[in-house]
Amino acid sequence: MYENYYGFKELPFNVTPDPRFLYRSESHRDALAYITYGVFQKKGFIAVTGEVGVGKTTVVNAFIDLFQPSLEVAFVFSTLFPFDQLLYLICNDFGIDAENMNKAQMLLALNRFLISQYENNRNTVLIIDEAQNLSPEVLEELRMLSNLETRDRKLIQIMLVGQPELENILNLNELRQLRQRIPGVCRIPMLSREDVIKYIKYRLEIASVNNGGPVFTDDALEEIYHYSGGTPRLINVLCDRVLLLGYVANTRTISGKIVREGIRDLESKESPVMDRRNGPM
Ligand SMILES: Nc1ncnc2c1ncn2[C@@H]1O[C@H](COP(=O)(O)OP(=O)(O)O)[C@@H](O)[C@H]1O
Ligand SMILES: [Mg+2]
Repeated sequence: MYENYYGFKELPFNVTPDPRFLYRSESHRDALAYITYGVFQKKGFIAVTGEVGVGKTTVVNAFIDLFQPSLEVAFVFSTLFPFDQLLYLICNDFGIDAENMNKAQMLLALNRFLISQYENNRNTVLIIDEAQNLSPEVLEELRMLSNLETRDRKLIQIMLVGQPELENILNLNELRQLRQRIPGVCRIPMLSREDVIKYIKYRLEIASVNNGGPVFTDDALEEIYHYSGGTPRLINVLCDRVLLLGYVANTRTISGKIVREGIRDLESKESPVMDRRNGPM
């Protein structure tokens, strides 16, 4: 709506996990390095955690984009499925036709698939997003799945991505065998004040055609930092709102006053406030 006014070729503050917009803060860089290491060193299991909206899915998508040609990826969102259903989704995402198969048949088909990928030098990665929803029983079954191996290496790398509660689940005594297999959990923290400022500039730059875009005053940036607590998703929601307000007021200078107005707007609606306190996106 306001794209033309500010000279954007696309909206700078979408809330989709689009890796083209990835701002490589130190912690996002670390997370990308951790994933790359885990997958290519064939660690078997890796886990990435962080609060809602901190950039977990975006980093994972960036990893896939970077290494796509050498990867065979299944990406599933966990809900409270029992293992059989999860296995079905996994098979499906790998392109294995598992229609009408029982669990044993699916495991067999998956094993065959993994061996063929291995023979073709492809790295098979199973990504389970929102993994904090997995039950301990399902996690234990996933551990068994990762036991599929040849004499010298794991055939599948399993990446668990989820909110910090995932760490509590992984620390359960009954899952200690699984826990021991994970080379440290990578937790993505909120952005620092300095990173929030760089983050906003970076996203504006990616979306801009030229330099005629909006200018955020120091006061505005400070307000955004405080409101968001350094959560990219909240920064995006707020920035999108304030750009709209700037457009309506016909000003490309985004002041603290405009940001405060944007915050009031958002807080008078229920959903963004709820996002901030708990629920997944
Ligand atoms: N480092 C980053 N660079 C650019 N955008 C980011 C970054 N981290 C998060 N975002 C943006 O914030 C929003 C939420 O990120 P997402 O990856 O969905 O978070 P999570 O999976 O942790 O809930 C998305 O719009 C995403 O593009
Ligand atoms: Mg996510």
